[in-house]
Amino acid sequence: MLSEYNKYLEYISDELCLEGVSLKELAEELGTPLYVYSASYIRDRLRAYRQAFPEALICYAVKANFNPHIIALAKEGGAGADIVSGGELYASLRVGIEPSKIVYAGVGKTLKELEYAINSDILMFNVESFMELDVLDYIAGKLGKKVRVAIRVNPDVDPKTHPYISTGMKKSKFGVDIKTARKEYDYARKLKNLRVVGIHCHIGSQILDVSPYIEAAQKVVELYYELLKDGFEIEYLDLGGGLGIKYKPEQSNPEPSDLAEAILPVVKGVKAKLILEPGRSVVGNGGILLTQVQFLKDKGHKHFVIVDAGMNDLVRPAMYEAYHHIVPVERKERSYIKTDVVGPICETGDFLALDREIPAVEKGEYLAVLSAGAYGFAMASHYNLRPRACEVLVDKGSYRVIREREDYEYILR
Ligand SMILES: Cc1ncc(COP(=O)(O)O)c(C=O)c1O
Repeated sequence: MLSEYNKYLEYISDELCLEGVSLKELAEELGTPLYVYSASYIRDRLRAYRQAFPEALICYAVKANFNPHIIALAKEGGAGADIVSGGELYASLRVGIEPSKIVYAGVGKTLKELEYAINSDILMFNVESFMELDVLDYIAGKLGKKVRVAIRVNPDVDPKTHPYISTGMKKSKFGVDIKTARKEYDYARKLKNLRVVGIHCHIGSQILDVSPYIEAAQKVVELYYELLKDGFEIEYLDLGGGLGIKYKPEQSNPEPSDLAEAILPVVKGVKAKLILEPGRSVVGNGGILLTQVQFLKDKGHKHFVIVDAGMNDLVRPAMYEAYHHIVPVERKERSYIKTDVVGPICETGDFLALDREIPAVEKGEYLAVLSAGAYGFAMASHYNLRPRACEVLVDKGSYRVIREREDYEYILR
């Protein structure tokens, strides 16, 4: 069953291992909370995208996990980067991703960030408003550059996911309305320091049914042909990221090949190069969060397992009521308990699981929180002045620390 999350995750002699590395030994050696990622898993996912979309440019969405060693794995897997900040640009360039493979989205790019990205000569700015077009044109002119832009369009498609990660609906802050996007295209064309080369859309995240992709791609392709008719030279069709992963035991998720089967027929005949921006589906099930049980607490009507990983380490349950499967690192005969698994943070919203049936665990035991490779450490904070976790990469039986645990001085500096 665990292998459905990640084929490198298995019990060996009743100890949970990732790529053959004992998670108990890692926890004892490096302490908890501890993020552990599987390099082979991430390589496999990038290969799956390459095979499903041999002609496309895959831009890894750095926001999912910005550890430089993870971005480097994406680069080795042939990917470029989808970025949303100067920091993500810096990290991508630092690991050697070519600027010609970097696309930059986001509704609130600052002057400084735009200048940095223009000077870096990235592939394309995915522009989200009229004002951003003006500012980009102004800075490009000042720097004596001509920059490539796509307009991020909002196809008003319901991705059937959590509202906080639905980005392609009319009411969302992202993009411009696809129905009126011609206005932005006509406007951008008149700005002399911009070259309009693409269409961008990203409808949301954790999408488990590929039909919204088909709908979005159809609308984008329609716009593509309208723009061609109008004399635009559209070289890139960027359909964003968003492919969902397995979080719950009963969930099954679409593979990159299913996405290809859904959208490639729709974009057939389109001359522009396809770009995809997967994040979660590359790293999500490549990572787990290890945590140690601190206390057990029984209030009669309610049971709590109190662990040392909190919402500052993994905010997804608190933020999206997200489900993360939790298993003990040691396998043995156990009864089951119904419990909340909660962290040490002073917030009622600080939980990893609510009213969950889990194997009965004891004080001091280690638990593995699955599917934590994406939007886990990347969303971690110092709330309650808690140092952020250590990160480890396992690779075919060996491991290395890819981010050291922080200490108090680091936070206060
Ligand atoms: C513009 C854009 N591209 C790509 C992604 C990556 O999405 P996912 O991690 O679901 O693949 C996001 C996520 O929010 C995004 O906003």
